[in-house]
Amino acid sequence: MEPAPRRRPAGQPGCPRRWRGRRWALAAGVLGAAAALALYACLPEPGPPRAAGEAQAGGEVNVLLWWEPFGRPRRMADCRRRYNITGCRLSADRSRYGEAQAVLFHHRDLALHGAEGLPRGPPPRPPRQLWVWMNFESPSHSPGLRGLAGLFNWTMSYRRDSDVFVPYGYLYTPPAPRPFVLPRKTRLVAWVISNWNEEHARVRYYRQLKEHLAIDVYGARGLALAEGGVVETVSAYKFYLAFENSQHTDYITEKLWRNAFAASAVPVVLGPRRANYERFIPPDSFIHVDDFPSPRLLATYLKFLDKNKPNYRKYFAWRKKYEVHVTSFWDEHLCKVCKAVRAAGNQIKTVRNLASWFES
Ligand SMILES: *[C@@H]1O[C@H](CO)[C@@H](O)[C@H](O)[C@H]1NC(C)=O
Ligand SMILES: *[C@@H]1O[C@H](CO)[C@@H](O)[C@H](O)[C@H]1NC(C)=O
Repeated sequence: MEPAPRRRPAGQPGCPRRWRGRRWALAAGVLGAAAALALYACLPEPGPPRAAGEAQAGGEVNVLLWWEPFGRPRRMADCRRRYNITGCRLSADRSRYGEAQAVLFHHRDLALHGAEGLPRGPPPRPPRQLWVWMNFESPSHSPGLRGLAGLFNWTMSYRRDSDVFVPYGYLYTPPAPRPFVLPRKTRLVAWVISNWNEEHARVRYYRQLKEHLAIDVYGARGLALAEGGVVETVSAYKFYLAFENSQHTDYITEKLWRNAFAASAVPVVLGPRRANYERFIPPDSFIHVDDFPSPRLLATYLKFLDKNKPNYRKYFAWRKKYEVHVTSFWDEHLCKVCKAVRAAGNQIKTVRNLASWFES
């Protein structure tokens, strides 16, 4: 079974905020078992009896997916079997609108269909129903953010200050950690890239780095991945270029969690600043391009690590304690919303400044 996703309870003032701005020592705790207990202490007491359209304590929570993300229909997850979250009824059947406690709107599809595509009734928007704005692209790739002010009750994104925080992955402390075995490394640096854009900082950096170091490029413009996919291919490499397509707060994607960590390659990251990464992962688990004044000096350091096994192995010390969870789209997201609805209680909330918040 996959570990239960951990999240910040929605709209609990004073509770999760104290984690803000703290560094790794605490971030690790947030993801660990001890903090999970603290988190439970923060959850609201069951509220008074609720009106129709609300989550009943212990009753079913109906979650409606208004658009299937990217227009691709899918089978809905069984939240209890996959995540030990009970009482969820997930659906993409719009005839269920009236009974849904939460309706999810995927931003990419919303941008495609426009605000006219939102439910307009009849029936009217049930007063207790939560509209959840769901987005996992960065602000640079999220067109049409303006004009969405005051429409939604909650946000769900990779940003830690979302109402429903769903990162692309996280570290957790298993009760009995499995011993970590470093896969055999026969190659040096890999990079997988499908969306090649000369304007992107990552392509500019790559062009300079490759002057000093051989880099194997996979994807649309490069080599083909092995049968087993990206994880199998990258696991033969010592380093992986986890370069994000744009640089934004908390925007740390599967490029780190799956392509590098799950493949047991040391991530060389280009994204938000080092301090932002350190909110989520140990400082000695990755190399940041900003750690070096130039791509040439980064290349020198990678070549040094290539020849110095004990130094290279230090990048795996954290694996004694933590394991890597890679979030699965979209099952985990939907189940987390269900859980958040149940925990939320009766508070009313509207997201007033969606664009300015998300772009900050
Ligand atoms: C499932 O959740 C229940 C209630 O939250 C908990 O008591 C139980 O230990 C969990 N089971 C597993 C396998 O995590
Ligand atoms: C959701 O937002 C709408 C629009 O601002 C508002 O009328 C409604 O009261 C909110 N509902 C909840 C449960 O927060």
